[in-house]
Amino acid sequence: MTDQELIKRAFEMHQFSYVPYSQFPVGAALLTEDGRVFTGCNVENAAYGSTICAERVALGKAVSEGCREGWAAIAIAGRGEDFCWPCGACRQMLYEFAPNLRVLAARGDGQYAQARLCELLPNGFGPKSLNM
Ligand code: THU
Repeated sequence: MTDQELIKRAFEMHQFSYVPYSQFPVGAALLTEDGRVFTGCNVENAAYGSTICAERVALGKAVSEGCREGWAAIAIAGRGEDFCWPCGACRQMLYEFAPNLRVLAARGDGQYAQARLCELLPNGFGPKSLNM
């Protein structure tokens, strides 16, 4: 699957975003090395802090389907003028399973930037930090 195709999958998730408070839909698509894709959208809540980001929905779907390894890339699609980089909580959650994950951050016009997760979360705290 190409980067463009993965980003398209992320944008397609906007239709499911539940965003009555921010009006800012975000979609995510997590690609595995064996070609599976786990998608997610953001789901907001009247208790704002209980909102869950698109990336963590995709992560939860992967882990709950038994897929913890072999994550190749995640595409994140927002509609803003800036690239939609993952928030701090999402960086931390993704780091647990895939420190070297390729992150594709797309903006409203479809352009995207990319970086490795370990660049977005340098000196991250992960399982190795607990000697696990
Ligand atoms: N959001 C995501 O889903 N992923 C990100 O990487 C950044 C922020 C969501 C959370 C909230 O529903 C909305 O975007 C505005 O912050």
